Amino acid sequence: MNKRIKSLVGVAAALVAVTGATTAMAKDFRLGLITPPPHIWTKAAEAFGEELAEKSGGAHSVTVFPARQLGDEAEMLQQLQTGALDMAFMTVAEVSNRAPDLGAFYAPYLANDIAHAGRILRTDTAKGLLDDLPGKVGVVGVGYGMAGLRQIVSRDAVETAGDLEGKKLRITPFEPILDFYNAMGAAPTPMPLPAVYDALANGQVDAIDMDAELIWKLKYYEHADTVVESNHMMFPMVGLVSAKVWSGMSDEDREMVRELMAKHVDSCIDSYVAKDQEWLTQVEETGTNYIVVGPDFFGDAIDQWNAKWSEKSAALDDLRAAAEETR
Ligand code: BEZ
Repeated sequence: MNKRIKSLVGVAAALVAVTGATTAMAKDFRLGLITPPPHIWTKAAEAFGEELAEKSGGAHSVTVFPARQLGDEAEMLQQLQTGALDMAFMTVAEVSNRAPDLGAFYAPYLANDIAHAGRILRTDTAKGLLDDLPGKVGVVGVGYGMAGLRQIVSRDAVETAGDLEGKKLRITPFEPILDFYNAMGAAPTPMPLPAVYDALANGQVDAIDMDAELIWKLKYYEHADTVVESNHMMFPMVGLVSAKVWSGMSDEDREMVRELMAKHVDSCIDSYVAKDQEWLTQVEETGTNYIVVGPDFFGDAIDQWNAKWSEKSAALDDLRAAAEETR
């Protein structure tokens, strides 16, 4: 590099350091998710890409990689940290493995129902929990979406929680739910989403923790004796941008990406609020054994969880207050 170019590069680097911004550059962003192509999250990712291309006058585009094509969520989070991946729509569950404060979202029965879960995610308290992510995890959290509330699908008959004791019960791999089912006396078995169907169908697990959309659309109920409508936890999703990629974007591009990504992940909240109960009704109408339970079903597992997570997450009290305000 000659002297003049070197000094220009130096000036540009200094400007970036001072203003935190670079000039706009055309880019094809790569966005990864674990959900299959017809899933609400995947559709929202595609809609985000289309709108970004339109609003940027074709300067930017988004290539969406669904169904774990780039790896599971833990792997994608690592890729976001290094900048090998630009963006992801990811379970807050995975992010909470690196930022335990986010575990507060999984307080059993924090939300009364699916609409309340949506209202909690739209509070400033919830949004504030994203502020630490660049420093702690190396990602920028742009906004929340969600999937439905959690239910239980069991190959054997279930009438009481005792029927799940010692049973291998598939969970999404993250700590708050592990603690919950351990407190219940089940044998929680962490397993990423794409592995669940076969595991349930061939009896590798006895039961699964799942949401209404996938119980209905992937027909998990066909491999079950009993579906337990428990609505025991909410299941937030977050739109993420690699902090490394973010730091190389212009202010203008950041603003556009933040606004549009937040809009499209948020649209998932409306989709689940509109459809969650409908999917459950459709499952019930198949004639499979179907029980509706509330917090009492889980005995003292909820108290045990609350005691443990008041130590593990500094955000639990604030999020409970936000839940009260939006009840
Ligand atoms: C799950 O792990 O159960 C899950 C992950 C992403 C979307 C929906 C469900």
